[in-house]
Amino acid sequence: MQKNTPKRLDAFLSSLGYCSRKEAKKFMRLYKVCVKGEDVFNPALKALHADITIDGEPLDALSLTLLMNKPQNVICSHDDAGVLIYSLLPQRWQRRNPKLSSVGRLDVDTTGAILITDDGILNHKLTSPKSEAIKVYEATLAQPLKGDEAEIFASGTLMLKGESKPLLPAKLTIITPTKVQLEICEGRYHQVKRMFAAVGNKVIQLHRSNFAGYTIKELAEGEYKILDEMLLN
Ligand code: URA
Repeated sequence: MQKNTPKRLDAFLSSLGYCSRKEAKKFMRLYKVCVKGEDVFNPALKALHADITIDGEPLDALSLTLLMNKPQNVICSHDDAGVLIYSLLPQRWQRRNPKLSSVGRLDVDTTGAILITDDGILNHKLTSPKSEAIKVYEATLAQPLKGDEAEIFASGTLMLKGESKPLLPAKLTIITPTKVQLEICEGRYHQVKRMFAAVGNKVIQLHRSNFAGYTIKELAEGEYKILDEMLLN
């Protein structure tokens, strides 16, 4: 939605998840909706987003991008059965249209940094194969490293099972024989687990500490923060 275009109040209220378009009249009786400080009751009235308040609070932002520290056993997809990452967000945000979607996905058992946005262009930009957004993972392995993994991952020649294009070079940092940090710039399906499978190992725990420069250091599991629109573009 354009920032500087006046829109009907019911259009703002419904697209930002406050209520449905049909419920706007009732909503405006229950809550104090103002345009430039004046009480308004007509859902068809047109106004600028910046001029509208609800119970004295500005409207939610027209576009939202969040960074979440995804807990285990929570799903990034909109469609799968189970607890979805979106259920950790305020109900109003869950009703936004366009809806909030994760930027790529983390497996159900992977924890850590995931971006969630309603900005389709940004989402595409960060997930497109050309993006090369850096992702940093901390992995715990079932078997001790053999010793040649860092070289194989850095080579740019490793081929994943069922694929025809080799992986771009990735940087492996060894922390202990079964704990590593892996930096990759692609986002292929189950990429980290498949990379270790390709060298005869198995990932038993996986955490993403950094996505495209965003770290979840200060966020507890399940917590999220709104990212500044200005820094994203
Ligand atoms: N690679 C994986 O194997 N799983 C994830 O969740 C993310 C990257």
